Amino acid sequence: MKRTAIIIVALLSAGVASATTKSLQLPPDAVQLKPNALPGYALAQSQCVACHSAEYMLYQPPSAARAYWDAMAKRMKAVFKAPVADADIPVIVDYMVKTYGNEQPK
Ligand code: HEC
Repeated sequence: MKRTAIIIVALLSAGVASATTKSLQLPPDAVQLKPNALPGYALAQSQCVACHSAEYMLYQPPSAARAYWDAMAKRMKAVFKAPVADADIPVIVDYMVKTYGNEQPK
């Protein structure tokens, strides 16, 4: 009886020891929005990367014009219920088109 108890304690402490030395592999950091001084940057950070990473912006064609980004932002709101205020959309679109679209600085 006493012997069994000792074995259990040994097993438990082995379990604790291995738990503390376990290392956790996290996936690589998600792609972040490209920072710049445009006011839409902060808005996009709070409103455009809650559901998906900024990788989605990266994969849009660099030739995409303002109208494309405008439609995209409005689609996010209408279809996916992105909590974006209408007044913020042009500001976010300005950031998107100048950062990922066809108004990027050459
Ligand atoms: C409520 C969640 C949500 C928020 C907030 C959101 N999106 Fe999305 N977004 C999605 C989903 C879901 C998809 C994938 C839809 C698909 O594949 O058609 C997506 C896809 C995209 C894509 C990839 C293009 C595409 O057609 O799939 C872009 C670009 C994008 N979002 C931009 C934005 C921008 C800009 C904002 C901020 C105005 C934003 N998203 C905010 C849910 C969201």
